[in-house]
Amino acid sequence: MSHATRPAWFASWLIDGADSAADRAVSSPASIGVGADLIGFGGGQPASESYPLEPLERAFSRAILENGRAVLPYGSSQGLLALREVVAERLGRRGVNVGAESVVILTGSLQGLHLIGRITLDHGDTIVTEAPTFMGALSTWEHQRPRYLTIPVDEHGMLVEALDQHLRDSQARPKFVYLLPTFQNPSGVSLTLERRKRLLEIAQEHDLLIVEDDPYGEFWFDEGTEPIPPLRSLPGAEERVIYLGTFSKILAPGIRLAYAIAPPDMVQALMRAKRGVDFHTDTLLQQAVVHLVRDRDFDLESHIADGRGLYKRRRDAMLDALESTFSSDTRWTRPGGGFFLWIDLPRGISGEAVVSAAMAEGVAVFPGSIFYPNGDGGSNALRLSYSNATPDRIRQGIERLKRGVSAVAG
Ligand SMILES: Cc1ncc(COP(=O)(O)O)c(C=O)c1O
Repeated sequence: MSHATRPAWFASWLIDGADSAADRAVSSPASIGVGADLIGFGGGQPASESYPLEPLERAFSRAILENGRAVLPYGSSQGLLALREVVAERLGRRGVNVGAESVVILTGSLQGLHLIGRITLDHGDTIVTEAPTFMGALSTWEHQRPRYLTIPVDEHGMLVEALDQHLRDSQARPKFVYLLPTFQNPSGVSLTLERRKRLLEIAQEHDLLIVEDDPYGEFWFDEGTEPIPPLRSLPGAEERVIYLGTFSKILAPGIRLAYAIAPPDMVQALMRAKRGVDFHTDTLLQQAVVHLVRDRDFDLESHIADGRGLYKRRRDAMLDALESTFSSDTRWTRPGGGFFLWIDLPRGISGEAVVSAAMAEGVAVFPGSIFYPNGDGGSNALRLSYSNATPDRIRQGIERLKRGVSAVAG
């Protein structure tokens, strides 16, 4: 029910901030690309044809038949040991060397963000984010009414020296730094290795906790070059970084399964908070994913490698279409992986106006402004996702977008 039609007595029960532009953008079915002949460049949906339906069916059936009585009662707040071992083993291959005791299984990484907020934030505390950042994170901390210290991002990720300078100048004591170092949502850029190391030094100097959100790190496009290692894998990160990973993008977001890697005290605190939220993540689902990973007829690693190829072709289609449709007064990022790219429109063209005009043309995109926690940027920008549209639809969608921009430019 929209605010306009909600009865006054009902509105009076809700906290302030229960309605926000970002929430309206992400909750509208149209904006995430559900609708007749609507091309969806809005939400961060994986390619729907990539969902491993038959392997999931086998995995769930095995979980019920072989393990039902063990996994259907209430379970462990930390998560199934077998799944935590799978997570630790897979992360080891990316240089994050942890045991199963450091893993907490989550009902989506959004839950991880929420739990981190619950265990660290007092009312009005400060959080450092990138600008722009993933707007979905902000709603997970809404209740604690945090302040945001936002640090700009360039093509090499967060300007970490600007963070250092801010902390020196302002005496601010942020509770944590939230960032997406790899194929960032919304811009698609990655933090360089040099800046990752420097960020850890800055965190050491100012005694900061870092939250590394990494849903897209396994979708890199340059097979020739080594992917940049996660922040959590670098020396000095063990005690300072909480790492969040998810099965949403590599399997399917509807199954709601993710994990945190945290230092021992944090593991205990996260579990305590989780008991107050949902007690534990669906154990049947956890067991099914263990079966899926062990399935001899399904190879998760080649499934992810196929995803890398698929998303690279889609990124290329979008970059080519942008190149041949827009002129040099419009600029965009060239992501090396992940699902998103960021467009800076010519000066004076409102991203929000373009979103409405583009929707009328049949293409859904998000306005850049919703990715700025303090509402102070992105007004002439857009975020586009290329993950869930075929190259043909991408070309068509960019033409529609161009018509939307032309309608606004007049
Ligand atoms: C940066 C980022 N973090 C977290 C999430 C949510 O992940 P999950 O489905 O695991 O809750 C998303 C989903 O789009 C995301 O882009």
